[in-house]
Amino acid sequence: MVRWCSALLSLALARSALAAVPIGYDPGQKTDIVPGAYIVEFNNGQNDESSFYSDLQSKGLPASKRMTLSYSLFKGSSFQLDKGIDVDPVKTTSRIASIPVVKKVWPVRIVPLPDSKIRPAGFGHNNSTVPPAPSLARRAPGQNGTLSTHVQTQVDKLLAAGVTGKGIRIGIIDTGVDYRHPALGGCFGPGCPVSFGTDLVGDDYNGYNTPRPDPDPLDTCQGHGTHVAGIIGAQRERNELGFSGAAPGAELGMYKVFGCVDNTATDVLVAAFNRAYEDGCDVITCSIGGNSGWAEDPWAVAVSRIVAAGVPCTVAAGNSGSAGLFYASTAADGRGVTAVASVENIEIPLVLVEGRAAIGEGCGNKTSFGWMEGRPKFPNVTLPLWVVTPNYTTDGAWNACNPLSDDTPDLKGKIVLVEYAICSDWVIANNLVAKGAEYIMIYYNQDSFAFSPVIDDLPTLKGLGMTTYQQGKEWRQLLTSGVPILVKITDPVYARPIAVSYPNTVGDGGLVNYFSSWGPTWEVGLYPHFAAVGGDVLSTFPLDLGAFAVASGTSMATPQTAAVMALLMQHRGIRDPQTLMSLLSSTAQAKPFIDYDKLWAGLAPVPQQGAGLVQAWDAANARTVPSPSSVSFNDTEHLVGSATVTLRNTGGKAVTFSVGHVPALTMYTYNTERLYPAPFPNPIAEGAAAKLSFSADVITVPAGGSAELTIRPTPPAGLDEKRLPVYSGYVVLNGTNGENLAVPYLGVAGSMYSAPKMLDPERTFTFRYSNLNLDPIPADSNFTLPIPTSPELPPGTEGMNPLPNLPAAVMQLDAGTSLLRCDIVALDAPAGVPTTDVLGVEVVGSIGGFPAEWVPRRYFVKPFTGMTQEGKILPAGRYAFLVRGLRIFGDRENAADYDALKLLPFNIEYKN
Ligand SMILES: *[C@@H]1O[C@H](CO)[C@@H](O)[C@H](O)[C@H]1NC(C)=O
Ligand SMILES: *[C@@H]1O[C@H](CO)[C@@H](O)[C@H](O)[C@H]1NC(C)=O
Ligand SMILES: *[C@@H]1O[C@H](CO)[C@@H](O)[C@H](O)[C@H]1NC(C)=O
Ligand SMILES: *[C@@H]1O[C@H](CO)[C@@H](O)[C@H](O)[C@H]1NC(C)=O
Ligand SMILES: *[C@@H]1O[C@H](CO)[C@@H](O)[C@H](O)[C@H]1NC(C)=O
Ligand SMILES: *[C@@H]1O[C@H](CO)[C@@H](O)[C@H](O)[C@H]1NC(C)=O
Ligand SMILES: *[C@@H]1O[C@H](CO)[C@@H](O)[C@H](O)[C@H]1NC(C)=O
Ligand SMILES: *[C@@H]1O[C@H](CO)[C@@H](O)[C@H](O)[C@H]1NC(C)=O
Repeated sequence: MVRWCSALLSLALARSALAAVPIGYDPGQKTDIVPGAYIVEFNNGQNDESSFYSDLQSKGLPASKRMTLSYSLFKGSSFQLDKGIDVDPVKTTSRIASIPVVKKVWPVRIVPLPDSKIRPAGFGHNNSTVPPAPSLARRAPGQNGTLSTHVQTQVDKLLAAGVTGKGIRIGIIDTGVDYRHPALGGCFGPGCPVSFGTDLVGDDYNGYNTPRPDPDPLDTCQGHGTHVAGIIGAQRERNELGFSGAAPGAELGMYKVFGCVDNTATDVLVAAFNRAYEDGCDVITCSIGGNSGWAEDPWAVAVSRIVAAGVPCTVAAGNSGSAGLFYASTAADGRGVTAVASVENIEIPLVLVEGRAAIGEGCGNKTSFGWMEGRPKFPNVTLPLWVVTPNYTTDGAWNACNPLSDDTPDLKGKIVLVEYAICSDWVIANNLVAKGAEYIMIYYNQDSFAFSPVIDDLPTLKGLGMTTYQQGKEWRQLLTSGVPILVKITDPVYARPIAVSYPNTVGDGGLVNYFSSWGPTWEVGLYPHFAAVGGDVLSTFPLDLGAFAVASGTSMATPQTAAVMALLMQHRGIRDPQTLMSLLSSTAQAKPFIDYDKLWAGLAPVPQQGAGLVQAWDAANARTVPSPSSVSFNDTEHLVGSATVTLRNTGGKAVTFSVGHVPALTMYTYNTERLYPAPFPNPIAEGAAAKLSFSADVITVPAGGSAELTIRPTPPAGLDEKRLPVYSGYVVLNGTNGENLAVPYLGVAGSMYSAPKMLDPERTFTFRYSNLNLDPIPADSNFTLPIPTSPELPPGTEGMNPLPNLPAAVMQLDAGTSLLRCDIVALDAPAGVPTTDVLGVEVVGSIGGFPAEWVPRRYFVKPFTGMTQEGKILPAGRYAFLVRGLRIFGDRENAADYDALKLLPFNIEYKN
């Protein structure tokens, strides 16, 4: 149905399964540049795009425009150079920068749509042919229409008090929205829940081509944005599943930045944020990002400016938690931007197709149940249910992993209910078909899950489906105690959806999701800021794709946070981003740490959960506001010796706070055996915590006044600094008025400059590009190259089979770097090859696409075509790659601040 991985990524993923590519990396999240595409910002006040393009032409850089970026906070343009022009991005960049109107130039980068593990509705109709019954509110069993996600974040209390976000405009930047959905109002424009917005790109946009905007932000092919929009704005009255969004009274605007594939680009995102800002949004939310950790990306810069201009922006922290610490995502890591982490739902919702069951003799008691269609598809049938029990199985099981006993009746004319087992649905179905079964309803063998079973090679099987464990157990209990059950299945194309919901019994309910990305940023900025519920979230989906879906990701937590901000704005009459951050952060609920299966006594680190799960009611009603909302003590080389937090009392009575400290678990960034990033769950430095001393243990804040608290940290001692331990915790303030506030902090007990290896020596080497195993090659390997036409392979070559036989560099970064070089050194310098001194080494040029700026922790696989980035074809000869990564907080002009590796030499010659 919906693919969440683009074709572009498939090869990178195929390679990542192989030996040489590091664990704990997420190549799918890389942010690659669009070859030959640039964003420029014009000098203040200047807006003469046409003179810019004629200057560009006269510099020998003919280009076609991608986007006009003419906004009050960002004036500039993005463009695509004509083919063959961009042989030399470094020189091209300086040529572009020399145009008088240009203030700054950036390459355009691709940003992928995050994987949100979407489970679309389990029913089969792929069209809006089944209009939802408007009067029928079909609620999940055990629910009263209140989503558990609202209870977890106290949104339910504000909604019950009539605070709905009314009067607040929320801009959403995403894949569009299916506003035809009744639960999203069924319309677009003034007076509708989705009342403004636009499509910046058109459905054919793929991230690389020129956007073709149109005014209609309809989402028909993706679904992500429709899910996000429903989390904020679903209308309960017109929703056949009976739930509402977290701010159903807010006005929604949708800025569509994806076509029907999963890539967008930074110029589109800059434009979308600025459009949303100029359309008067009070809060802007965006569930999109790419791994970074640097606040200097143009998109992050543009979002920071909007926050500085007074509009809070919530951006997903990312779904790369498995990669470990220091994996912040752009633009969530921009200065002032709110980075949102994800907490798991306490109930697991499933969207299923409705079936009917009559329980008891005669017509029995008629009830609804939920199931998922499999293959072969069930026709309309009404048949008695027959259950596989230990009486009929040779091994005493409720499943049919082994053949059924001889006294099993003929199963023709029945729907056979059977428990799922690891032996597989195929084995189970074969054993049942052997006894005449035509229709099989499998129930899953664990709580809160169901899938669509598919069996294509059993010609006598006429229908296969799956229901939940809870439903299966209820029925088998009735059947074995002699109560007959008649089941009526309606072809899912005509049936309605039904939501069921069960308590989360896995043990992670209410705790931080393992997929939620970790901070801090490379400059030790606190990241993420706090969390909302993003794990197993029920929301709307495009009508043509099932109308409802359950999805997981920081993508789902982020719109909930934006909705909570809207509730606070309405309730408190404020708009200021810093105050909103302080209110949400200081009242959030910090959660204990859970790894994949163990619940720890200590709190989850601040770089995983920020302040913890937002508590909307407490934030809306808090009287005391601490600022700043959080503190970074930086690394030990730049230790912030003391930090001051100001407490502002907005109430009419003095409040006295007792000051305390609750540390969270300290974790190492790197493993012991090798100084190599540790994937989740990160190693814990047990018992290690910072000591904090305070200017006062008790602090009184006068009515309407403020008071200051000074905090002095002593980072934990005795830790292995080379492994880069990150400590964190909470300054706790308990007020005499019952307010319990907290200020999260973090710091690094080591040096960001010295500890991380920029270049992993074992995983940075020369290899043959055609070798999918990425095996290092011996010194002086020989290559015969086709005459090169470009420093980089054309887009799409990555998917070729076989791949071109070129020398290539694998470069593994164990930390992010603000500047990564891959220069080429001539060893037996052939006559006539000019060299340049780069940081004290004579080089003949750079590998295509390099140097790279603001690089996240990642690896590169980079082929050398024979042409340098500067456009020079190197003569036949002996060469080596020289890879240099600038250390964090290093000086880019100082060669000593780089981690450098010269790789083994190789020989090249050319085919005639
Ligand atoms: C989808 O519905 C429209 C009418 O709403 C109809 O014209 C179209 O044929 C349907 N498509 C499919 C695949 O059922
Ligand atoms: C609805 O149910 C939730 C969860 O069971 C509960 O917390 C809430 O108070 C209920 N709300 C109403 C209005 O009954
Ligand atoms: C049918 O429903 C009635 C009323 O809810 C109940 O008393 C009766 O026990 C049910 N019968 C069966 C067979 O479940
Ligand atoms: C199946 O049942 C639905 C709903 O009653 C009906 O609209 C549809 O025509 C039936 N399909 C067939 C093939 O009879
Ligand atoms: C197994 O069979 C016995 C006798 O036929 C019956 O009493 C019992 O309920 C059956 N047990 C199950 C689990 O079906
Ligand atoms: C840490 O210190 C460095 C060097 O002074 C500075 O550039 C960086 O911004 C600091 N980090 C934070 C979060 O303040
Ligand atoms: C603040 O209150 C919490 C919860 O009641 C309590 O666990 C903690 O010990 C208190 N801390 C201080 C410093 O009073
Ligand atoms: C490359 O070719 C040279 C000259 O033929 C030869 O000596 C050398 O062994 C070759 N390198 C490798 C790795 O086979």
